[in-house]
Amino acid sequence: MLATGLSVQAANTNRETSSSGSEEKHTQRFNMSGYAAPKLDKVRIGFVGLGQRGPGAVERMSYIEGVEIVALCDQYDDRVEKMQELLEKQGLPKAKSYSGSKEAWKQMCENPDIDLIYITTPWSWHTPMAVYAMEHGKHAVSEVPAAKTIDECWQLVETSERTKKHCMMLENCCYDFFELLTLNMARQGFFGEIVHGEGAYIHNLRDLNFKKDGGYAEMWRLKENQHRNGNLYPTHGLGPICQVMNINRGDQMEYLNSMSSIDFQMAEIAKELAAKDSFFTEFATSPYRGNMNTTSIRTAKGRTIMVQHDVTSQRVYSRIHLVSGTKGMASKYPEPARIATAHEWLNDEEMKKLEEQYTPEIVKKIGEMAKKIGGHGGMDFMMDWRLIDCLRNGLPLDQNVYDAALWSSIAPLSEKSVANRSNSVDVPDFTCGSWKTNAPVELTLKGGGTTGVRVSNIPIGE
Ligand SMILES: NC(=O)c1ccc[n+]([C@@H]2O[C@H](COP(=O)([O-])OP(=O)(O)OC[C@H]3O[C@@H](n4cnc5c(N)ncnc54)[C@H](O)[C@@H]3O)[C@@H](O)[C@H]2O)c1
Repeated sequence: MLATGLSVQAANTNRETSSSGSEEKHTQRFNMSGYAAPKLDKVRIGFVGLGQRGPGAVERMSYIEGVEIVALCDQYDDRVEKMQELLEKQGLPKAKSYSGSKEAWKQMCENPDIDLIYITTPWSWHTPMAVYAMEHGKHAVSEVPAAKTIDECWQLVETSERTKKHCMMLENCCYDFFELLTLNMARQGFFGEIVHGEGAYIHNLRDLNFKKDGGYAEMWRLKENQHRNGNLYPTHGLGPICQVMNINRGDQMEYLNSMSSIDFQMAEIAKELAAKDSFFTEFATSPYRGNMNTTSIRTAKGRTIMVQHDVTSQRVYSRIHLVSGTKGMASKYPEPARIATAHEWLNDEEMKKLEEQYTPEIVKKIGEMAKKIGGHGGMDFMMDWRLIDCLRNGLPLDQNVYDAALWSSIAPLSEKSVANRSNSVDVPDFTCGSWKTNAPVELTLKGGGTTGVRVSNIPIGE
């Protein structure tokens, strides 16, 4: 039996040291989980933030049928111009340009001929831009994390519910191949009851964070790492685990605690750089977040989740993705990904059989094409294609505003716990109780799967 055997009440525990991340009382105005917006034949997109991440999104979308790239925005003119050149190269019409200031995106959001604002800016802009877009009648999708504070999380929820506009966080890792496979396996009971999950963002960004030219615009990411301490980037590891556990859709997070090591490297590097170049003086004045953060989350149904963050230490890239159930487990990183139902890992032949049996429909349909078009091995394209296919067919999105808010909230909640000797902190229920009845993420292409790809020489999958 799957999860239903667990009693929500039985899993509740005493929380002597808990303190709510958000003291205010909230009620749900309208349930955006399972919400299907009216179908859009064409999806007219405006992009904002054309730095390292944005151009790839513009390019991926340029391959999807039914998409019109109608607006491009960045504070820097040359970044917009570069994307206009890409559109020309793809044989697509010129988009309207918005640039030259940090506020030009507002005019773009006010343009009535746009359906979707696609946000790939620094973190502190995500919520203001998504909220303004929804207020002006657009669906909003934002790079991770969608919000930086608990107040911002609630702003997203309240605006999406009031405007009935989708607000999706672009958690591409939910569309990676092994993550989708394990989600389907979990859904079909392969792992038994899901007991525990692990995820992480372990990615050495040390040099990129300190890169003066050609790195993050105005050193925004270094500043985030300098002035906050906790798990600043939890959603890549967390998103796929939440889908496996039906969080916001049958289970809910209750509380967490979070512990950080000290910073072993960042302040030292900043000091060394500042000694040679006064540009770095402002980065050598205050402490940095610890190298490693480990956050533990307990759910209403008594499951546990561990999420780690380390973007400084000399480590091999890992998002962990570990699913542990009463009948089996899955684990990716280090690769290859593996599955076990006993003490030993299944062999290659057994793995192949499982892949044949459990590969979900979206991967069968678009997986090969996604690998060719690319974006983190194809997951980025799979996410974009599914987003557009849902909008064009009037289907609910796989990730809704409650996922955006909850997964993003782990960063500020972890900061709060770290600052308080790792004491536990309540996790707000952004669904206001509707998690008990919300349907799980749709794993088939029911009602959709009709969106084509504009690459004539690459055949689309079955
Ligand atoms: N999902 C993923 O795999 C993935 C990968 C990389 C980055 N990201 C996320 O993408 C986002 C962008 O990261 P990046 O590496 O591209 O950063 P970046 O600094 O390279 O690019 C940000 C761009 O936003 C522009 N910008 C900043 N403020 C603006 C404003 N007010 N108006 C218009 N433009 C503005 C900057 O000029 C810059 O071109 C971040 O949230 C990051 O975490 C996600």
